[in-house]
Amino acid sequence: MASLEVDLSSIEPGSTVTVKWRGKPVFIRRRTEEEIERASREDWTSLRDPQPDSARVQDPEWLVVVGVCTHLGCIPLPNAGDYGGWFCPCHGSHYDISGRARKGPAPLNLEVPVYAFLDERRLLIG
Ligand code: FES
Repeated sequence: MASLEVDLSSIEPGSTVTVKWRGKPVFIRRRTEEEIERASREDWTSLRDPQPDSARVQDPEWLVVVGVCTHLGCIPLPNAGDYGGWFCPCHGSHYDISGRARKGPAPLNLEVPVYAFLDERRLLIG
């Protein structure tokens, strides 16, 4: 299966870019210091799909998730929803800044794909 190399150098803190990988959108979020702090401080143990932020990122500055809602497969909108992450307009699922399902019908967190940092500026997905 094809891998995708992404140049991270033009992505500003606080912004999300969407790339296409294996026919699916992948969100790459460059998180701000405040977002990193918020994601790591939340009590994750009571979430419906309990995962600490540290288990979902390799580098806290970069969140990489498949942009497919875990409810019925719509594409969530970035920088939206009650938790500052994503909002899925199809049936109202909210995801936080770690891509974790927080509210609405989504049963699982946004999937983290296989990826690796080739260096400080380049990401390889897949
Ligand atoms: Fe996203 Fe239903 S597909 S909430």
